[in-house]
Amino acid sequence: MPAQPEGDPAPEDGALPAGAVARASERTLSLYVHVPFCAVRCGYCDFNTYTMEQLGDGVSRDDYHRDAAAEVRFARSVLDAAGAPPRALHSVFFGGGTPTLLPARELANMLGQARQSFGLAPDAEVTVEANPDSVTAETFDVLAEAGVTRVSFGMQSAVPHVLRVLERTHTPANVPRAVGWAKERGLGTSVDLIYGTPGESVADWRTSLEAALEMDSDHVSAYSLIIEDGTKL
Ligand SMILES: C[S@@+](CC[C@H](N)C(=O)[O-])C[C@H]1O[C@@H](n2cnc3c(N)ncnc32)[C@H](O)[C@@H]1O
Ligand code: SF4
Repeated sequence: MPAQPEGDPAPEDGALPAGAVARASERTLSLYVHVPFCAVRCGYCDFNTYTMEQLGDGVSRDDYHRDAAAEVRFARSVLDAAGAPPRALHSVFFGGGTPTLLPARELANMLGQARQSFGLAPDAEVTVEANPDSVTAETFDVLAEAGVTRVSFGMQSAVPHVLRVLERTHTPANVPRAVGWAKERGLGTSVDLIYGTPGESVADWRTSLEAALEMDSDHVSAYSLIIEDGTKL
């Protein structure tokens, strides 16, 4: 597993540095919920995420949504204690890891807690990151109903041998199918691509770009492959 960077320990009482609450009323407030679980760790990735194998016996994902909801309530109490004025959330982002490894109802519960604790601005953007093979059409029924507005898919490539080097579990066909399900339910969509994978030709990259454009998603993010320290790749 990649080495995690060292940081300062979080204060027990969640106290925020003065600079973080200064002029809070003039700034928008957003919420990021990290979901640190993946089916497989891709060989290039150093995000803070764990497979069930890495977590070991006795650890389950089942309580995560309740624990994260408790953290949302805690964040609200910390802001209140710091005298930051209550503000509705401008955006909410469920990132990973693979948020869609959790049942969609659990993502909806966490969003419900965010709404209850902070409120959502009328035009709030609510995004869920998804792996293309970790969703069904019903996933998006639940997410759309809960108030999610946008899904960001980890496409990476449309070329099988490139996906293999990246150790992705999905096939090229999974991506347009999943994007289509999300669009049919009125959700905004975005796809992530990676270029510069060992063995990827310019023609392969063109194939991936054309496949991404073909889906007519609202946004495409193209990342150069970064070989992160401590990763398998
Ligand atoms: C944290 S991942 C979450 C998305 C989702 N788990 C997935 O992979 O489908 C967000 C995006 O970061 C990008 N990414 C992660 N590690 C990277 C690396 N080492 N180099 C380039 N892009 C990377 C990938 O494009 C990935 O879709
Ligand atoms: S699925 Fe996404 S978050 Fe998980 S290891 Fe792969 S790139 Fe990283």
